[in-house]
Amino acid sequence: MNEHNSFIKSDNELKTKAYQAVKNSQDKVRQDPYRLHYHIMPSVGLLNDPNGFVYYQGKYHLFYQWNPFGTNHSSKFWGHFSSKNLVDWHEEPIALAPSSWFDKNGCYSGSAIVHEDQLYLFYTGNVRDENGDRETYQCLAISSDGVNFDKKGPVVQLPNGYTAHFRDPKVWKHEEKWYMIIGAQTEQVTGTVVLYESIDLISWRFLGPITERQDFGYMWECPDLFSLNDKDVLLFSPQGIEPEGYHYQNIYQSGYFVGKLDYQEVSYQHGRFEEIDRGFDFYAPQTTVDNKGRRLMFGWMGVPEENEQDHPTISHHWIHALTMPRQLELKDGKLFQHPVEELVNLRKEAVIYSDVVIKGEKIQMPRVNGNAVELFLEVKENASRQFSVSFGNNTQVLFDQENKLVTLKRKSMKSNQLEKRQCHLNDFKNVRIFLDASSIEIFINGGEEVFTTRIFDDVKNDSIYFHSTGKMIIDINKWELKQV
Ligand code: FRU
Repeated sequence: MNEHNSFIKSDNELKTKAYQAVKNSQDKVRQDPYRLHYHIMPSVGLLNDPNGFVYYQGKYHLFYQWNPFGTNHSSKFWGHFSSKNLVDWHEEPIALAPSSWFDKNGCYSGSAIVHEDQLYLFYTGNVRDENGDRETYQCLAISSDGVNFDKKGPVVQLPNGYTAHFRDPKVWKHEEKWYMIIGAQTEQVTGTVVLYESIDLISWRFLGPITERQDFGYMWECPDLFSLNDKDVLLFSPQGIEPEGYHYQNIYQSGYFVGKLDYQEVSYQHGRFEEIDRGFDFYAPQTTVDNKGRRLMFGWMGVPEENEQDHPTISHHWIHALTMPRQLELKDGKLFQHPVEELVNLRKEAVIYSDVVIKGEKIQMPRVNGNAVELFLEVKENASRQFSVSFGNNTQVLFDQENKLVTLKRKSMKSNQLEKRQCHLNDFKNVRIFLDASSIEIFINGGEEVFTTRIFDDVKNDSIYFHSTGKMIIDINKWELKQV
């Protein structure tokens, strides 16, 4: 058998093993009351980063880091979903399996672009050598139908001056050239991103790091660079940032700079780092621009090494999910996130109460409950120091007007005690909340601040309470959401 045939054999064998793992565990997975109703989840095993998000041949394609064999990070495939409307997702065959010498220890994260009606995937081949040391290859795979991918092997090798923590290529076109950024660690163990350029997508020229910051963590993962309102936003997930007040409370962060990339000088002038999400579970977001010109984003609703092994879903042979798709907008130098407008198609019947007066009390409204719901609250009048919405036994979002603070509390999976995440908020105007069995996404003031969090509580208690310390008038809108 020649080398190519033996590659195909091992690739097929690995995929067959993965499908067998799905068969073995899917009943157990389906019995889990913490399964989500309308989010993307792995059929079994572990999901982490969204990958290769792209609009191609009339459909959205979304790939994800997937270990079908267990709920740890030992093996990584690219799983694949597609959708015509961002609401109904169809599971496609496995896109990439770690079957080649250049990706044998994981087809790690990366991105997709469309060129001459073909779909190009750029991803990191993670390899461990005989001594267990890491090697990294930035690889290409091409498809003409969006389903079958032909691996072309490495197109970028590790440059001098960087450790093998060099991964997660994101590719885009600017003027007549292709560009790629890669998350990197310098030999001085500082995080950065480096830029490459290409005219044919095959041969890539190293241009260098785009920022010289030496003091912001030891590794930057999953970079994404895109233009919005004439600015260049660099979205990335730095590791090694210490907590500071309300900031950087999770083990690893996700956030962005707003600035301007000078492609000729290879330099990126930017403002300060902003966290993109304030909740417990958000990491490695990735964006694409669709056929309507929208900048859309998915994130991973999880954080690496953040109590992953305490997730109760593990006993049901699965872990983690992706966020809802969000549209990004840049307003006054800040990213706002909006649940994409298509999500209204998830709505079943509405329950609407206008001008509800709450006077220093805790209330429940008829039929405002459930665990697969969207809630939209609009503040009409507010003379209350504090206002909170509580879900079930232990989850609460609290708006503190006096201290200009928002607090999200949930029950810790580790200690069962309440734990919190907080951020500053000048004025509370409205909030849109997506609750789904074991997750909550909270969009405050039209996406000015967002909290994304998994919650593992008693799913049978689907009550929702509103509590104010003083007088408030609010509109309450609630929709039951459909299972997709
Ligand atoms: C981020 C990350 C990426 C890597 C992938 C491996 O969560 O560590 O840097 O490519 O996950 O699954």
